[in-house]
Amino acid sequence: MSSTIGIFDSGLGGLTVLKELIKVAPYEDVIYVADTIHMPYGNRSVQEIVGYMKQIVSFLERMNVKAILVACNTSSALALNYIKNIVSLPIIGLIEPTARRISEEKRIKKIGVLATRATVSSLAYTLAIKRYSPDIQVIEKSAPLLVPFIENRVKKEVLIKALTIYLEPLVKAEIDTLILGCSHYPLYLKEISSILLEKYNKEIKIVDPAIYAVEELLTELKDIGITERGTGEIRFFTTGDAYEFSEKATVFISRPIKVKHINLREEGEIKIWHR
Ligand code: DGL
Repeated sequence: MSSTIGIFDSGLGGLTVLKELIKVAPYEDVIYVADTIHMPYGNRSVQEIVGYMKQIVSFLERMNVKAILVACNTSSALALNYIKNIVSLPIIGLIEPTARRISEEKRIKKIGVLATRATVSSLAYTLAIKRYSPDIQVIEKSAPLLVPFIENRVKKEVLIKALTIYLEPLVKAEIDTLILGCSHYPLYLKEISSILLEKYNKEIKIVDPAIYAVEELLTELKDIGITERGTGEIRFFTTGDAYEFSEKATVFISRPIKVKHINLREEGEIKIWHR
């Protein structure tokens, strides 16, 4: 059995989940797939997301991973239930573990979910949270500009303005908890916290689903007796430009990384080595 965990996202967002995994289990080997050629996922249909996820999952299976962590809320919301039925490996998304853990916190009454358009339209967070805690109110708000802002960099004033606008309806609805329902958004955690606290004068608990998903994955692996440890080796693959992804990801992951380009349509054939 391999000791590698497969992680994927449309781009840089899944690095927030990867970072959480490294923090808790630095010994795990990882293959990270960034499907940048199809990004942003947040504007795509269920059929498209299912199609991309099938290709990524089958690539990860060929790479012989022991489990898959879906580091993308949009894929977790739109495609995971379907993919689970056709994959024999343990596969964990971001939404279900979060909904389950939130139900254990009795003081949470009203939750705001900031997410991509596709995740919000699917109502996946609302449905999952209500299944565990029918009395909690959930308000979802899409923030379509944030993923392109993170991927392409944007001036601080523009970012703060957009975040302030996106957060306003959630603050007005008097949420006590905010779920960062897109794995890209924790990269703006500092800005989001300071807008809530300084601009809106609200102390709102901010939830990063990565924490619960990583915890659940490690527990599940232990429960089913998959205990092989790796050496903390991380391999990156992208369906887009390997040089570009490497340049951007290095900033967030704070270490030089090696990225390979893959064309998932051509059976995951490896094209170019970068560095
Ligand atoms: N980071 C992903 C998510 O959690 C995808 C964002 C996108 O590509 O739109 O939803």
